[in-house]
Amino acid sequence: MAGRTKIKQILSAPQVGSKVTVKGWVRTKRENKNVAFIAINDGSTIHNFQAVVDPDTIDKNIMKLVTTGACISVTGEIVESQGKGQAVEMMVSGLEILGEADPNEYPLQPKRHTLEFLREIAHLRPRTNTFGAVFRVRHAMIFAIHKFFNEKGFFNLHTPIITGSDAEGAGEMFRVTTLDLENPPKKEDGSIDYSQDFFGRETNLTVSGQLEGELGALALSDIYTFGPTFRAENSNTSRHLAEFWMIEPEMAFYDLKDNMDLAEEFLKYLIRYALEHCADDLNFLNQRLMQEEKNMKQQDRSEHTLLERLQFVLEYDFERISYTEAIDILRNSKPNKKKKFKFLIDSWGADLQSEHERYLVEKHFKKPVILYDYPKEIKAFYMRQNDDGKTVRAMDILFPGIGEIIGGSQREERYDRLLNRVRELNIPEESLWWYVETRKFGSAPHSGFGLGFERWMVFVTGMKNIRDVIPFPRTPGNAEF
Ligand code: 4AD
Ligand code: MG
Repeated sequence: MAGRTKIKQILSAPQVGSKVTVKGWVRTKRENKNVAFIAINDGSTIHNFQAVVDPDTIDKNIMKLVTTGACISVTGEIVESQGKGQAVEMMVSGLEILGEADPNEYPLQPKRHTLEFLREIAHLRPRTNTFGAVFRVRHAMIFAIHKFFNEKGFFNLHTPIITGSDAEGAGEMFRVTTLDLENPPKKEDGSIDYSQDFFGRETNLTVSGQLEGELGALALSDIYTFGPTFRAENSNTSRHLAEFWMIEPEMAFYDLKDNMDLAEEFLKYLIRYALEHCADDLNFLNQRLMQEEKNMKQQDRSEHTLLERLQFVLEYDFERISYTEAIDILRNSKPNKKKKFKFLIDSWGADLQSEHERYLVEKHFKKPVILYDYPKEIKAFYMRQNDDGKTVRAMDILFPGIGEIIGGSQREERYDRLLNRVRELNIPEESLWWYVETRKFGSAPHSGFGLGFERWMVFVTGMKNIRDVIPFPRTPGNAEF
């Protein structure tokens, strides 16, 4: 774009005396008879840029349209700032209104809005400091994820979004169809005839790219996917989305320990990257969280600030314990004995709820925990069976404030064992023949995991609701924007 300079560039390498054009959205305007100060933000950085206007030089009718939310272009000389708060500012010689914003209608005012209110105006919330910061950090994390795997020699594999199989053997899925829902073709027995559907079969939006990812790993050795995934469960919580992004590395010749090592290294790499490249935004989010928690009851406040938490996770090894050890800890824990858990833990085999995961992480170990070797009944069919006949080589990584952030496992690479498990669980073999067949032709030990990208973003930004770390959240009853 000819002649336009981004605010980030001006502020990071100020060239006093140069003449530039800045385009962006007005955050505030303060004016008196002699001078007007306009704070402009163009999204390139959390910082606003101050444009100083001598009212005699700019048409009064144009200045009237410089209101919060309007988009403007200002041209002028960069000068050292007289005031506090910024090193440089612009002495405006030309000002153009690109898009007006009627102050009687524009919903974002220079004050604190609640996150709930901002969700209702998701089309405008990227213009707030908070969401600008969150979305810039989100970008940095996406970039760092590709960088990490690229540096390790992994290949990014695109797995299909429309699938004919249910990777997790259970999950509730969104159907994909072009059939006329009012009048679908029927078979003789009255059931819907999907052979007449677009793909000649039943299809859904994928819940995971893992199964196809495994096919890639059994050829390219190390791959990762980074794609959208869809789950139609009716979960209205601060950690569930119906549409979310998942990173799924899959590695040939990795056992479960290699898998855990990679996951831990990966998450620490991402934190380091964020601290190094997103300092301004993280400082802002850190302050924001402290401010928000000031008004909360003592017991609801975080023990540490956002930046302390990031630093802490970076410095210490994650705790690694088996499911069996975790059950012992939970069974003997105070909230279990005092019946404070919603789901009480009484026996081995119980599925862990987020309250249990958070107890282990936040109260017991006070650091991230990797739980491994889960009962096979509560995990997916593809996980490698241990010799005890009871457990599988699963691992979940649990994080403070969130609970499960990563789920993964060593995969069952033995043909007979895998096929037996598929049959035991009554999974239709014809939908998975290609997956099982890889265990017949050059099978290899391999492992992988899935990181829920938005859960990760919750951790890195300190935002408390997963709806506030994705630009346009999809949750039950909510797909407006
Ligand atoms: O534990 P999940 O279901 O594991 C899988 O899908 C495996 N195929 C991964 C693999 O081994 N390749 O999901 C992985 C992660 C969870 O740990 C969680 O962080 C996130 O995805 N996740 C969700 N995030 C937001 N909303 C939801 N409804 C989520 N469900 C899972
Ligand atoms: Mg899981």
